[in-house]
Amino acid sequence: MPGIVVVGAQWGDEGKGKATDQLGDRVDYTVRYSGGNNAGHTLVVNGEKYALHLLPSGILNDSVPVIGNGVVVDLDVLFEEIDGLNARGVDTSKLIISANAHVITEYHKVMDKVTERFLGNRRIGTTGRGIGPAYSDKINRLGIRIQDLFDENILRQKVEAALEQKNHLLVKVYNRRAIEPNEILEVLLAHAERVRPMVADVTRVLNDSLDRDEVVLFEGAQAHHLDVDHGTYPYVTSSNPIAAGACTGSGVGPMRINRVIGIAKAYTTRVGEGPFPTELLDADGEKLRTDGAEFGTTTGRNRRCGWFDALVVEAAATANAFTDIFLTKLDILTGWENIPVCVAYEVNGERTDVLPMSQSDFHHALPVYEYLDGWTEDISGCRTFAELPANTQAYVRRLEELVGCRISGIGVGPSREQSVMIHDLI
Ligand code: GDP
Ligand code: IMO
Ligand code: MG
Repeated sequence: MPGIVVVGAQWGDEGKGKATDQLGDRVDYTVRYSGGNNAGHTLVVNGEKYALHLLPSGILNDSVPVIGNGVVVDLDVLFEEIDGLNARGVDTSKLIISANAHVITEYHKVMDKVTERFLGNRRIGTTGRGIGPAYSDKINRLGIRIQDLFDENILRQKVEAALEQKNHLLVKVYNRRAIEPNEILEVLLAHAERVRPMVADVTRVLNDSLDRDEVVLFEGAQAHHLDVDHGTYPYVTSSNPIAAGACTGSGVGPMRINRVIGIAKAYTTRVGEGPFPTELLDADGEKLRTDGAEFGTTTGRNRRCGWFDALVVEAAATANAFTDIFLTKLDILTGWENIPVCVAYEVNGERTDVLPMSQSDFHHALPVYEYLDGWTEDISGCRTFAELPANTQAYVRRLEELVGCRISGIGVGPSREQSVMIHDLI
């Protein structure tokens, strides 16, 4: 029966890794369905910290970890991640990968960096991991899939085709050296034998598992507002992290998804460029960054910080049909006398209670705040809702009201056990 999707409700780094891990041992398959190693999911298990970029968080529990067709795979990163985990005693032998997943090559990474530099102050602030160029090639029908690695002849033709146009751009527009197809082929072929045993018919495996009434958990990367269709375009990633992406990114039909869990931080953060109405550029923002250790898992960049924006999360709840929300990092808000929550925007002098349709309006939106009472008690040891201070409970209840979705779990610390469960998530 249950197909469960975990989706970021803001701009990423909400704590999807921890929330996914939370469902842990009751899950049979944990599937990454979109993005690539632009993601950084940090988990703390038995006091040990793990930063995962490409592997699903299920690698740390008993479920079968899966990389679906919707993911773009940098094989160097994949094997580095596997080796790193193996060295720490983590078993990665159950991992399966879709033959249809596309690979990220050196030329994607080069293109990512040169195009960002070329954009200057219009840059997106990408992670520089080659994500956008790899998805562009996929849509342009010039991509290389995992299955291509097993047919050298085809692989050569595809790499040559992909490089033909890029080399013109690299040399004539970006003033860089041309990339030889052989350089790319050598690297890809060197990985072919190692990846071959991991390749499986992921679509069939997952559908068979759902037929057996097992639990398949789809672990989103990035977030609703970074979605190329639904996010703050062009300041987005190049894939569909939204819940619907779990279907296209794995080959499971929408009727098989029973639950969509939105992961929302108790405040808001964003990495890279793009609009962010509740961003704090003052000492309060610095305090959130320091208290929440808001520095990127992938690039180490400072995360931009601001108050909880109910319009942002409500829009995600609507478009993804969240059945539940897991509210993370509530412990980080301890100690504020009162906590502003954005309940509306003022756009060109007019108040709006929902996210504006037009991007220009969103860029000019001024937050309208409601001030909720804070709390000073340490909540990191709380394990039930009743144990939370009254003001903390009221904060949670007010967010529920504003967003229009029940909050079923709350993160009160980075560790696996530091959660308050209100409703079961499976
Ligand atoms: P993801 O990309 O959505 O998986 O999130 P990240 O792992 O990039 O960022 C979330 C950070 O917050 C990580 O360092 C987590 O260990 C940490 N974290 C997750 N949930 C909580 C929580 O409830 N409280 C605290 N203090 N930290 C948390
Ligand atoms: P997780 O899964 C936060 C952001 C980048 C940039 C934009 C485009 O850890 O939540 P890209 O390299 O994807 O072309 O960059 O998207 N971005 C993320 N921000 N968390 C992520 O992943 C992100 N993945 C991409 O910072 O603004
Ligand atoms: Mg992250």
